[in-house]
Amino acid sequence: MSATPEQRASPYNGYHRVSEAGEDPELTHTGPRTPCGEYFRRFWMPVAMSEQVGRHAVAVRVLGEELVLFRDLSGRLGLLHKHCSHRRASLEYGIIAERGIRCCYHGWLFDVDGTILEVPGEPEGSPIPRRLRHGAYPVREHAGLVFAYLGPPEAEPAFPMLDTFSLPGDELVPYAIDYPCNWLQVAENPMDPFHSVFLHTRVTRAHFNPAWGTMPVVEWHPLEDRTGIFLTNVRRWQEFIWVRTAEVMLPAIAQPPDIYQNPDREKFFPGVGITKWTVPVDDTHCRIVAWRHFNPELDLDGKGDRTRVGLNRVDFVGQTGVERSYEEGLALPGDYEAQVSQGAITRHAEEQLATTDKGVALYRRMLRRAIRDLEAGREPPQPRPGPNGEIPTLAGDVILRVPVSNRDDRSLQRRMGQEIGHIVHDTMGLPRPARRAAIEERARALT
Ligand code: FES
Ligand SMILES: [Fe+2]
Repeated sequence: MSATPEQRASPYNGYHRVSEAGEDPELTHTGPRTPCGEYFRRFWMPVAMSEQVGRHAVAVRVLGEELVLFRDLSGRLGLLHKHCSHRRASLEYGIIAERGIRCCYHGWLFDVDGTILEVPGEPEGSPIPRRLRHGAYPVREHAGLVFAYLGPPEAEPAFPMLDTFSLPGDELVPYAIDYPCNWLQVAENPMDPFHSVFLHTRVTRAHFNPAWGTMPVVEWHPLEDRTGIFLTNVRRWQEFIWVRTAEVMLPAIAQPPDIYQNPDREKFFPGVGITKWTVPVDDTHCRIVAWRHFNPELDLDGKGDRTRVGLNRVDFVGQTGVERSYEEGLALPGDYEAQVSQGAITRHAEEQLATTDKGVALYRRMLRRAIRDLEAGREPPQPRPGPNGEIPTLAGDVILRVPVSNRDDRSLQRRMGQEIGHIVHDTMGLPRPARRAAIEERARALT
């Protein structure tokens, strides 16, 4: 028997608010042959850090599937089904060979593409290697991360080479963070810049710059090719207007701009602080696999620390369940505590979405549509590279000196967000240095 609206709104109504509402399986279940799992299997995703692939194979779990990742003695990476095609011994105990990996149990030898090279206990001329291939996925390595494509070979997209992978003077430092909760509650966080005001600033103390504590003017826009969402996030800070642009590329790539940004001087699109993927491990675990970007134009206050970036470590507070105790999490909660505490799989039916959640709602709507499109046979759109082969991206900071006047400042912030968002979007076709010069020239002309 469900409660009446009056009972739900009455004081001390715990009894009436208890609910058995379940999760949202269409968006949260990603195992083999689930609609969302199939959708994820249309994209390249990072599955490990290169440094995890050492002398032995490493077991990895992605989209509910058990796999092993290894580097053979000739240097090639392989990502294979974990259980041997013969009688299912785990290939994490396999012996790395010059070419491929050899199962410890009866010595079958598998190449990185799944070809069975040897079945040493079988008679000469055994038909097994001709008739069978072991489950294998294509793998690609970039700047200390190992990416894989787990979908149908005929639908394999180009590797998503973003323009932020090779910015001048930029160093990419890989890291990975394990989260014991569903992927979506982690991936949707960048669509919610308002949590920076509260979680990261006002509720405990400033995790980043105190300017984050100002309520921003935020607008979200689906990209016209439906590959993601572009948002503008605008604040007044002293004599500056700080426009932060960001994007989520479906299904789960985000690029927060400079995380230690201090809006104390003018800046024109200096780069991003993080490029990250949220990768479903299974329905109740996920992993952020990412790069921190370090370059001379970011983090001018010198708060970042590349020596604190790696496996389950990153150089800002509240991101892992490994580096801090439960008590430290209670005293100074961060993204990790907020997102993991939503539950192993959060229950959307129990939420009360509000005005600050427009981006989260849009993200879920776009995901749901893409998942349903794929079920209906329409492959998801992939971001298109520019003339130089790189995919232009939209995340960055534009900070302009605009002294406070007697104009309505919130309206001014809204207009600046729209104008600068338009400029950042409009200059996507230019190479980075020219793009930055154009953004500066056109942004200055607004003041
Ligand atoms: S179980 Fe792998 S070779 Fe027999
Ligand atoms: Fe956050």
